[in-house]
Amino acid sequence: MRILVVGNGAREDALSWRLAQSPSCSAIFAAPGNAGTASRGENWDCPATNGKKLAHLCVDNNIDLVVLGPETAIAAGVADQLRERGIVTFGPSRSSGRLESSKIFSKKFMERHGVPTANAVVMHTLETALKALEAWPGGCVVKADGLAAGKGVVVTEDALTARAVVTDWYANNRVPGGGTGVLLEEKLAGREVSMFALCDGRAMLPFAAACDYKRAGDGDTGPNTGGMGAYSPPSELPKDMFDQVREKILAPVLRGLLAEGETYVGVLYCGLMWTERGPQVIEFNVRFGDPETQVLMPLMSGDFAQLLKSCADGAIDASVARLSQQSCVGVVLASDGYPKTSTPLAGLPATFELEENSQAFWGGSVLRDGKVDVNGGRVLTVAATGPTVPSARASAYDAVRKIAEQLDKAGASLTHRTDIAKDIP
Ligand code: AMP
Ligand code: GLY
Repeated sequence: MRILVVGNGAREDALSWRLAQSPSCSAIFAAPGNAGTASRGENWDCPATNGKKLAHLCVDNNIDLVVLGPETAIAAGVADQLRERGIVTFGPSRSSGRLESSKIFSKKFMERHGVPTANAVVMHTLETALKALEAWPGGCVVKADGLAAGKGVVVTEDALTARAVVTDWYANNRVPGGGTGVLLEEKLAGREVSMFALCDGRAMLPFAAACDYKRAGDGDTGPNTGGMGAYSPPSELPKDMFDQVREKILAPVLRGLLAEGETYVGVLYCGLMWTERGPQVIEFNVRFGDPETQVLMPLMSGDFAQLLKSCADGAIDASVARLSQQSCVGVVLASDGYPKTSTPLAGLPATFELEENSQAFWGGSVLRDGKVDVNGGRVLTVAATGPTVPSARASAYDAVRKIAEQLDKAGASLTHRTDIAKDIP
């Protein structure tokens, strides 16, 4: 198969890395891709959201399978445009993508179909929001309706702080992602886990779980980020977690999608809070997670490309690939000041000398004359496998040290959290 990965982050580098190693993959392409994807295939100069141009390029290049990475491509209707041209695509339609692109649509969908989720109310004006907060019990999570690149959710401990957030958003006319829709949501307590299900339009198969670290600083302090690290599997969660998720969440979601005429093809990322009441959905994403994908791909064995192709063809074949029994830990290396500022860096080494069980995935970056330029932000994810989470963790941080030394020689430095997967059994 000739395979195109759409996107340019470390998630797409990890997908491309694993797809390229699949027995059924003969050539790998990326659009627009990054320094990592450029090292193993061809990068196309085409934005992830330009479905028309992507369809054209796919036809010209005899692409057999397209794997969509970012939510922006899905929300732009790229899957619809590709399928219209008969191109086999792993990724949901724009319509199904509303499960992520509109938090209000997603919440109402869950309520219609009995999916366990945090209680929430929908707001469109400051006045009604302030009224709802008058008698709010406990913590409140304020969520903007639209896609806001991780900036649309504020978790508060009390209604007073939530009032300040909605006042700022409405009074200054800057609800993140635009529009006026805001959800006020009950704050749930528990263990957060990302659960990934593959869907071929007719069935949903839970296939992986991982935990990520959203805050910038050690001990979960500092601002929210795109994710600073992850590990898999979450060994501290119940042994039957996949069964519980299949029965309590995936079954009603699938029934709901079918009842509403949605043919969901791709991965459904269930952002869950594992509470005393069991798993509750805090969000759906309609794509692979970042940085979760960077710790799942090193664990994948078999023909991952064939697994995604079978999904995209409408008949998932789970026997062709599976996750190994190993563990994986990933640490994100970011430029100084992330997430407040992006610091561009130039002339970074394109590859790093690492142990066999370790791998570095590039975030947004460009390969130029054998060196790498980045705009800053999340620059690399360093992932390592091992028989247990603690051993994978030791290897991951060992790799982080090695990379820091090699970056130092190039006059560059990156920051990272030091407590990813700490105290996880
Ligand atoms: P999101 O952008 O939807 O992924 O939300 C960002 C983060 O906010 C999540 O990863 C959770 O840590 C937190 N969060 C969202 N909803 C809730 C909730 N209902 N209760 C507690 N925490 C939440
Ligand atoms: N890991 C969070 C996300 O991909 O949205």
